[in-house]
Amino acid sequence: MADNGIGIAFIGCGDVALRTYAPAMAPLAGRATTVAVYDRDPARAGRLADDLAALGLPRPRIAASLESLLADPEVAAVLNLTPAPFHHEINVASLETGKHVFSEKPLAANLTDARAAIALAHQRGLTLLCAPAVMATNRFRWLKQEFDAGWLGRLTLAVGQYVNMGPAAWRGYKGDPAVFYGPSVGPALDTGVYILHAITGFLGPAQRVEAFGGIAIPQRNVLIPGREGEVVDVTAPDHLLIHLDFGDNRFAQVLSSFATPRSKAPALEIHGENGTVSISMESWYEPDAPVDLLLRDERPDGVERWTQTTPPGTSRITQMIQAGPEHFVAVLEGTEAPILTAERATHVLEIILAAGQSMAEGCAVDVS
Ligand SMILES: NC(=O)c1ccc[n+]([C@@H]2O[C@H](COP(=O)([O-])OP(=O)(O)OC[C@H]3O[C@@H](n4cnc5c(N)ncnc54)[C@H](O)[C@@H]3O)[C@@H](O)[C@H]2O)c1
Repeated sequence: MADNGIGIAFIGCGDVALRTYAPAMAPLAGRATTVAVYDRDPARAGRLADDLAALGLPRPRIAASLESLLADPEVAAVLNLTPAPFHHEINVASLETGKHVFSEKPLAANLTDARAAIALAHQRGLTLLCAPAVMATNRFRWLKQEFDAGWLGRLTLAVGQYVNMGPAAWRGYKGDPAVFYGPSVGPALDTGVYILHAITGFLGPAQRVEAFGGIAIPQRNVLIPGREGEVVDVTAPDHLLIHLDFGDNRFAQVLSSFATPRSKAPALEIHGENGTVSISMESWYEPDAPVDLLLRDERPDGVERWTQTTPPGTSRITQMIQAGPEHFVAVLEGTEAPILTAERATHVLEIILAAGQSMAEGCAVDVS
């Protein structure tokens, strides 16, 4: 702890750092301060430092290398916001130098690496948390509490989807869209992961996974201004239809796609014995948005209709992703028990890898 709270460092200063994590540091002023930033492109690190200063926050040092950032004694904890292929090595390097870590997803590319990082964090007595922050938002904490209290009775079925055309078609995206269509990412690890964290957050760990998938649209024109003319080859499945078995006749179905032009379906519906909760895609990232609720009413004059129900309380953050650093700081302060655990992220990684195996082998795959 320094005078300004916990010393935080950003590693990777690209789209999500600039767009979402930097503004998330403002409500944490006094509790946590960005003391250093590093990007292998120094211009991006400089831009992030400028953005933080423009928010009225102290201007962080720009580290010349990852090693010098990790050698900085004022850095107690890092936010690893690099692209997926670098997450594991940077998480491990950070833990080895005694830093607490919040990693963007995925935690690692395989279960061996994910479990090694967890073991290293335990060994060193350090906190290792991982995005996505779904279950740490005000809305999802409230839903979890209501479900656990029996709001809908026993939860039996979850149906979710996160579908679009991927980052090549996201005109406002500032990063490199190509990596998202390759085998180190793909739609399930990038966006399906949000739905899977919500479903396993509510229903608990899955036991079996079965999936179909493939490459539906093999080439993409990049629509981002300034990158016109670039074409991305799709080398990872861009449609994944995943079925999950939770045991005890409880199931889930998830569509994760970068090859779906548009959809009006909700992001997630949770069905219980007594009712259904429906969460729209439009409000998915809003931390305090209402959900639609329908409760069964079997009385002769029973009324069954959708109502909107709003979580109590108001978040200080404005976007789901920002619940990650907020929760990370609270865990480091000792005021919150870890929700976004590396173990949770590893289970979801296991599901996604099992979906790939199921697609290749045409069988259901047990997960632990
Ligand atoms: N962009 C979003 O809205 C968004 C949302 C949620 C999660 N994420 C996740 O955040 C991570 C970063 O995504 P992004 O969209 O910001 O990507 P990006 O390409 O815009 O930014 C990544 C940054 O990391 C830097 N970098 C690459 N390798 C590095 C290394 N070895 N050491 C230090 N810096 C390095 C790059 O120069 C770049 O500035 C990904 O895991 C992504 O899935 C992004």
